[in-house]
Amino acid sequence: MSRRVPIEPQRVDAPLTQSATFLILSLTPDPSGGSTKTVRSVLSKLSDLAKNVAIRDLNAAFACTVGIGSGVWDAVTGGLPRPKELHSFPEVKGGVHTAVSTPGDLLLHIRAERRDLCFEFERQVMDLLGDAVSVVDETVGFRYFDVRDLLGFVDGTANPVGPAVPDSVLVASEDDSSGEGGSYVVVQKYLHDLKAWKALSTEKQEAVIGRTKWDNIELEDAEEGTQQAHKSLATVEDDNGEEQSILRDNMPFGSPGSKEYGTYFIGYSKRLWVIEKMLERMFVGDPPGLHDRILDFSRAVTGSTFFAPSSTLLESIDPE
Ligand code: HEM
Repeated sequence: MSRRVPIEPQRVDAPLTQSATFLILSLTPDPSGGSTKTVRSVLSKLSDLAKNVAIRDLNAAFACTVGIGSGVWDAVTGGLPRPKELHSFPEVKGGVHTAVSTPGDLLLHIRAERRDLCFEFERQVMDLLGDAVSVVDETVGFRYFDVRDLLGFVDGTANPVGPAVPDSVLVASEDDSSGEGGSYVVVQKYLHDLKAWKALSTEKQEAVIGRTKWDNIELEDAEEGTQQAHKSLATVEDDNGEEQSILRDNMPFGSPGSKEYGTYFIGYSKRLWVIEKMLERMFVGDPPGLHDRILDFSRAVTGSTFFAPSSTLLESIDPE
């Protein structure tokens, strides 16, 4: 009788922390295959590397997840079967706003209660990766008061909790054995026009988001066919009318000195189509033309899709 090897996921369910680093890397083109070899070797040892840092403060909830982009999946995994839905981020063009698609081969989502642990882990990984990669984007996020975004609203309330987390986020073997225990990850970096946002009354801001600002109470959905709030446009159902959850670990980032104010959106899901449908509803609108008003104050400047395979798969890709 053959024994089934248990699959261990990455820490996609790690809690929201005080600090997070979102690092997007590109593999250096290298016909001799040297870059790919280095990347495979480093990624396969990432959980050991994470232990080096996590042990230095066990209360700091250190965690790192790695996502692999569609364009390098075959090379980086050494030709392992592709997760069924994996493809690169499709640009979503609405009447007024566009969700841009930008490059990225690897994503490192590094989190901890302490900024120094995120810094130290990133330093150790980058030392090992050396010239095999170049940095496409590096964004450092922070927790702002009671988990508010820079628009002033509590962000993350409707996230799944407890057993609903793996259920929403991890690909089940019966759905796709090649993606088992992994998760699709979509990231977008948004820059806010805070001056324009602050010119809106609190009531108008609340209607845009779909929740009250101070005490975070959900507002009634608007009538069908009229302007919907962000929370309604971001609600997606399958063909049976069942609501589909994703896990968001958004973080504020920015620098008042350079007037940069942003939200780094990161969504994990076991079904990529769910996040893509949310984006379509936000950018194109429902009904089409009535786009998410959050976009009139928030411009997407990046957009990339990755697959965060199980830890078990990641450890198996060492070319040695
Ligand atoms: C809900 C902020 C982009 C998906 C919310 C809420 C806030 C918020 C304040 C209400 C509280 C909560 O449930 O978390 C933002 C900001 C964004 C952004 C500031 C960027 C500028 C996105 C994107 C997606 C998304 C790009 C998906 C592609 C969702 C979902 C909900 C939500 C699924 C929960 C809806 C429900 O009530 O079931 N967001 N969001 N958000 N957002 Fe966003």
